[in-house]
Amino acid sequence: SDRINVAIDGPAGAGKSTVARKVAEQLGYVYIDTGAMYRAVTLAANRAGIDPGEQDRLKELVEVLNIRLAPGENGQMVFLNEEDVTSEIRSRDVTQHVSQVASHESVRIRLVELQRQLAAARGIVMDGRDIGTHVLPDAELKIFLTASVHIRALRRYQELKDRTGVSLEQLEAEIAGRDLSDEQREISPLVCAKDAIRIDSSELTIEQVVALIQELGRTKL
Ligand code: C5P
Repeated sequence: SDRINVAIDGPAGAGKSTVARKVAEQLGYVYIDTGAMYRAVTLAANRAGIDPGEQDRLKELVEVLNIRLAPGENGQMVFLNEEDVTSEIRSRDVTQHVSQVASHESVRIRLVELQRQLAAARGIVMDGRDIGTHVLPDAELKIFLTASVHIRALRRYQELKDRTGVSLEQLEAEIAGRDLSDEQREISPLVCAKDAIRIDSSELTIEQVVALIQELGRTKL
């Protein structure tokens, strides 16, 4: 097949999902948001009263969970045992616990298996933290998308500000905290793959980043 796989990794709030969705749209590829899967597991754990540190109960939980991604009108939809949880997985409660849930090996093994199945057909744009390093080491194009913590918090703040009372400082601290746990965890930490192209989006618009990735993609097609 002449279709390639594109891996887009990077820290929270760097614009990965928006960029990945647009790149997929323009290539006619399927977009897969792996963060949404870790969020779905976290939501299921919260509902079941499982603490993000309870390794054994989390292992049992992921074994019976059914997580399904499907394209929707406003981006990717997420189903947990066939219930639409697309918006609920974006809650602050889930956001605050997801990194700890994602640090467990049993959770990662299960979700990575699912991610590899989804990518087997190729023609996939997948975003996450460990896609280029671990999930799809053979992806033809690997991007590591970053931006300064301040810029990332500011963008999130502008998205959220009318809906929550959270301050910019608070968001900055939360993002920095999530970066740290994602970078320092033992299994598949957030790190730039050796063969990934690093793009700092601090001073770029979404459109500019998308155009840049498309240009890079053309050289691989
Ligand atoms: O991308 P998003 O911010 O929705 O991801 C939520 C969390 O899921 C991340 O902070 C990280 O802890 C975890 N994650 C991961 N590996 C991935 C994608 C997300 O550990 N491939």
